[in-house]
Amino acid sequence: MRVLITGGAGFIGSHVVEVCIKAGHQVLVVDNLSRGRRENLPRDVPLVIMDIRDSVLSSVIADFRPEVIIHQAAQVDVAAAVADPVEDASVNVVGTLNVLQAAVQLGVRRVVVASSAAVYGEPRQLPVKEDHPLCPISPYGLSKMAVEAYTRWFGEKYGMEWVILRYGNVYGPRQTVVGEAGVVARFLAAMQSGYRPVIFGDGKQTRDFVHVFDVARANLFALTRGTGGIYNIGTGQEVSVLELYERLCQLLEYQRELAYGPRRPGDIQRMALAIERAVDELGWEPLISLSEGLKELVGQMCTATLNRSPVPSRET
Ligand SMILES: NC(=O)c1ccc[n+]([C@@H]2O[C@H](COP(=O)([O-])OP(=O)(O)OC[C@H]3O[C@@H](n4cnc5c(N)ncnc54)[C@H](O)[C@@H]3O)[C@@H](O)[C@H]2O)c1
Repeated sequence: MRVLITGGAGFIGSHVVEVCIKAGHQVLVVDNLSRGRRENLPRDVPLVIMDIRDSVLSSVIADFRPEVIIHQAAQVDVAAAVADPVEDASVNVVGTLNVLQAAVQLGVRRVVVASSAAVYGEPRQLPVKEDHPLCPISPYGLSKMAVEAYTRWFGEKYGMEWVILRYGNVYGPRQTVVGEAGVVARFLAAMQSGYRPVIFGDGKQTRDFVHVFDVARANLFALTRGTGGIYNIGTGQEVSVLELYERLCQLLEYQRELAYGPRRPGDIQRMALAIERAVDELGWEPLISLSEGLKELVGQMCTATLNRSPVPSRET
């Protein structure tokens, strides 16, 4: 299948590229490299360096004749969205509209779109099911809510298949320290460089941490399954930021004390995602537990520090 992946040079996108290539698909990446890196991509994967808002997007990708678009490109920083909601909406909402419009113009059969648990806001009950009311408490969550609504609208108006994946807090190799949910990467970077790790708030806030490899697999499954569906992609496990920190301390035998900063605007207090729908309809389930994922990440971090070797890839 010919698969266009927006944001494919970023953290999650580059893993999606990898699993798609391994599954035998032909891939083209569009990324403006505002946060992504060429080095995140296998050398032979073609990359169009372009903003998803660019009016010539559709003509530039027309030659590739994409059958599916996996849309990952976004402004992903909640704090940045609070500081500049206009720029957040410009990238996330207007950018997505341009991608959807290009998809229609090029006769793309299906779009798979990255959304976020941030659309739920503060959950009324846990784990959150997909039919939970959407009450985002950040401009980022609002822009993702609009992304979902436009995806549905384009799908229904133009008869284009669509799938929306709402990710929990994604962690794993290649994550950078800025971002929607980079707490694992932030802690590890601080621990590695000898700075005191900072927790924003009291650390009792909980998240559903899901490994990037599992998120990439969910995208791969969504190439052919789950038409017209919205799916939570998490683990169903609620883990506090303090517990996460303690687990990393144990793995790294790290002993420095934490620093605490003010709770960040737009941050939710509790999150765990019900994943039964993804299990039943996508045939997907997370394969990597948090303990396993953190252990592997810490191991790779130590190896990389010692001999700067690249992160090994995994079999799908
Ligand atoms: N990381 C998480 O925990 C998490 C959680 C929920 C949802 N998401 C969603 O997953 C997707 C991928 O996020 P990520 O964590 O890999 O972030 P990332 O920043 O690593 O990846 C985003 C990619 O999009 C590119 N990009 C940004 N703006 C662009 C633009 N205007 N035009 C073209 N390319 C642009 C960036 O250069 C980057 O490579 C996003 O849609 C994000 O909202 C991420």
